[in-house]
Amino acid sequence: MTTAQQPKRIAILTSGGDCAGLNAVIRSVVIYGLSLGWEIFGIEDGTHGLIDRPIRARKLTLADVSATMLRQGGTILGTTNKGNPFAYPMPDGTIQDISETIIDGFKSLGCDVMIGIGGDGSLSILHQLAEQGGFPLIGIPKTIDNDLGMTETSIGFDTAVAVATEALDRLQPTAASHDRIMVLEVMGRDAGHIALAAGIAGGADVILIPEIPYALDKIVAHIKEIRDTGRNFALIVVSEAVKTIDGTSSTLSFYGGEKRFGGIGHYIGAEIAELCQAETRVTVLGHVQRGGQPSAQDRMLAQAFGVHAIDLIRQEKYDRMVAWSDRNVIDVPIVKATARYQSVDLDGTLVKTARSLGICLGD
Ligand code: F6P
Repeated sequence: MTTAQQPKRIAILTSGGDCAGLNAVIRSVVIYGLSLGWEIFGIEDGTHGLIDRPIRARKLTLADVSATMLRQGGTILGTTNKGNPFAYPMPDGTIQDISETIIDGFKSLGCDVMIGIGGDGSLSILHQLAEQGGFPLIGIPKTIDNDLGMTETSIGFDTAVAVATEALDRLQPTAASHDRIMVLEVMGRDAGHIALAAGIAGGADVILIPEIPYALDKIVAHIKEIRDTGRNFALIVVSEAVKTIDGTSSTLSFYGGEKRFGGIGHYIGAEIAELCQAETRVTVLGHVQRGGQPSAQDRMLAQAFGVHAIDLIRQEKYDRMVAWSDRNVIDVPIVKATARYQSVDLDGTLVKTARSLGICLGD
């Protein structure tokens, strides 16, 4: 590794949906960066902090990053998952390209480099901004969906899986007590990683993921097989982007016209109740998967990523995303990582494990 030439001035922001472990990354960047005599500025609310005038950013000190921060969910900097700056919805209803405003905001901070913590959408937007503005960028992957390419895992995924697994642990006894079929709807956007991992860990009978089209009669037959063994309850995990049988995505509308996945759990629950003549109950886990204390693995990953990000800056090696591979942190080109969407590998270990354990994947 080369040694630092000049003290650096770093800007850091969190972008996209929050998840557990973001504060642990910020803390590690601040602790390691300050130890090198650098300055670290935290930009508030993702790129939104660079749209406003005056811009919203603050210098971070050791007092901002106490040990308790390691254990805190959310992000002390705030974040946003709304508003692509290249097609930004303005208050007057028009759509405008405000990328130059953000670039000017960043330049006014006088920072040498930006560290962006985000998922595929955020990192590709930040990369575009960095190219256009001619400033160096380092990416750190976070997403409970774990759908970012070129890294085995991203910050937040492990915690989300742990929460979904705990939900199954809690649903199983009540399902058994009432002879019910419990349906658990989990997040994950278009990828079924959370459902598959938590379903295996939590002993689900059926796991439905967007990558595998399902047939209701296969699920019904599987439930019948379970009942024939004398067990009269079952656990079904369904990923939020699984479609209804006619191919429709279940979505819900929120304030401002924002649409998000939601509702497939209730659809599956109602269909199975009817077809199996069984009592079903549905739990939609939602944002519980994103909040709360990060798992040990997410804290470890977050801090290793933060340290590697600073090391990349010491080497002036830019446009890289830190990544996890084979028990180590590596770095890869941001463009390659964001270009490679990581859905569930149908020939991979977890699908094979689920099938070998007799878990029904709906097909
Ligand atoms: O991408 C993370 C994620 O939690 C998805 O799993 C989910 O579909 C979406 O964000 C929810 O977004 P919001 O926080 O805007 O409701």
